[in-house]
Amino acid sequence: MNNSVFTSKFIVLDGPDGCGKTTQTKLLSEYIESLGCKVENFRDPGTTVIGEAIRDILLGHDYHGMGDNVELLLYMAARAQLWKEKIAPALAAGSCVVMDRWLSSSCAYQGYAGGFGIEAVVDVANISLERSFPDLTIILDLNFDKSSSRLGESLDRMETKGGDYHRKVREGYLKFAELYKSKKDTAGIIDVIDASQDIETVQRMVLEKVLESFSKEKQL
Ligand code: TMP
Repeated sequence: MNNSVFTSKFIVLDGPDGCGKTTQTKLLSEYIESLGCKVENFRDPGTTVIGEAIRDILLGHDYHGMGDNVELLLYMAARAQLWKEKIAPALAAGSCVVMDRWLSSSCAYQGYAGGFGIEAVVDVANISLERSFPDLTIILDLNFDKSSSRLGESLDRMETKGGDYHRKVREGYLKFAELYKSKKDTAGIIDVIDASQDIETVQRMVLEKVLESFSKEKQL
């Protein structure tokens, strides 16, 4: 495959807590780098000084009374800073950006599980961000029983929201994919893969999706 297909590509791996996206983000980045392409890895929320401060507020245990709309605005604020400070410059320099979470997380957590509404979240993104959707979003789908068994012992504020909330998060990702999959012009390519397999199998499925998405795009 011609490695120029990765130039300035914006790729997001997303999914419920414990789905393995952080590991897969790293493995995908290593693969793209091994082809001789420049690649940058960022996590949302976080990466910038402002984003990491917002992350501490969101995930620490000081603010359990936080409303879903406040959560949404804080996640969006961290994302706006991340775009401006890191993602936009990296894409402009020709790097491929591989993200650990992005807007799809706000749609699943605050939009669906929190009740704000998936489309309402996208509306907020469209007025808050210079760019809402990446070129490719891959959702690593995993049911709550499996994803919760992969979590560590100390849980952050979001992880303590309970089984009902997190079952809805998973449903929210699937709803998000259903709603936006056919809107490639505005929402980029969206795909869902089964993340219940071992790391190597999931890595292979992620690679297949990435190569298939961008080689198809090249033929258009
Ligand atoms: P993580 O980066 O360790 O996965 O943790 C981020 C947590 O924040 C995780 O529980 C998902 C949650 N989250 C949202 O609720 N909305 C968002 O928009 C994002 C990016 C993350």
